[in-house]
Amino acid sequence: MTDAAVHDDPAPDLAAALAGVAAEVETALDVLLPAVEGAEGRLCAAMRHATLGGGKRMRAFLVMETAALFGVDRTCSVRVAAAVEMLHAYSLVHDDLPAMDNDDLRRGKPTVHKAFDEATAILAGDALQTRAFEILAEPDTHSNPEARAELVLALAHAAGARGMCGGQMIDMQAEGQTLTAEAVGRLQALKTGRLIQFSAEAGAILGRAPAHQRQLLAAYGRDVGAAFQIADDVLDAVGTAEEAGKAVGKDAAAGKATMVAVLGVERARAQAEALSGQAATHIHSFGDQAALLRQLAAFVVSRRK
Ligand code: IPE
Ligand code: IPE
Ligand code: MG
Ligand code: MG
Ligand code: MG
Repeated sequence: MTDAAVHDDPAPDLAAALAGVAAEVETALDVLLPAVEGAEGRLCAAMRHATLGGGKRMRAFLVMETAALFGVDRTCSVRVAAAVEMLHAYSLVHDDLPAMDNDDLRRGKPTVHKAFDEATAILAGDALQTRAFEILAEPDTHSNPEARAELVLALAHAAGARGMCGGQMIDMQAEGQTLTAEAVGRLQALKTGRLIQFSAEAGAILGRAPAHQRQLLAAYGRDVGAAFQIADDVLDAVGTAEEAGKAVGKDAAAGKATMVAVLGVERARAQAEALSGQAATHIHSFGDQAALLRQLAAFVVSRRK
């Protein structure tokens, strides 16, 4: 076994927990996504293609694990986990469009605009996003309407102009430009970090946790998100399409402003590891209950897909 292979897979208990959440959220997504029916059935089929049967479900895991810290009923937290995965799937469908990264392969399958067509991909992304917010607002997600409104507000902040969409705008405009490490850090905090931070905070919102505990989880999510996107940049530079389930080597070809472009692979890796270690320190006070969240922080930088 090579040294790299030792770090390939998540630690055994994390692997089992991730697989468990993936199965739970898959079932929820199947129920919560619209059935392929009616004259608009093609749209529903594209939403299902984008969302079901793939992905690490890391954002779902963060929601479920942080909610578990506060004893939240899993029938509630799995709905939020499904909503986050729908929002994330929408971001991938649009990210892969010809007008953006122009990718043909996602999660080992053809991208939505390849399997269907561009108009369908745009609409599927739009409808996944609105379905995500609809789920958060539905009474089954939390008995307290204030908690539901807080979830909607926090996801809107994470996904909008000062969040994921804003980061995607900067990412597109930065093609061919030389950014500082600080500027790439902000780009990545917006395009990837905010949604991961939301996922980690969602458990505290569902659990009606005190503000200081929500802030600790937000800080953890922010650092996990930053480490995660740097690891994604490293995988694009040194990974394989077979393992990643998506094309690699495209960031350099497109002149993307990544942490690898600014720092090189080795220093980018070191920064991801430092952020991962920092993430773990924020959740120290949760003790053994947060053991899997600590393992996840390590996994986001050692992963190969
Ligand atoms: C890919 O996210 C997009 C980025 C933010 C880098 P993931 O690597 O979490 O994708 P899936 O959900 O596992 O396919
Ligand atoms: C995408 O970042 C982040 C999103 C908001 C979707 P990338 O463009 O690096 O993600 P991949 O590499 O295509 O998964
Ligand atoms: Mg992109
Ligand atoms: Mg992309
Ligand atoms: Mg990438």
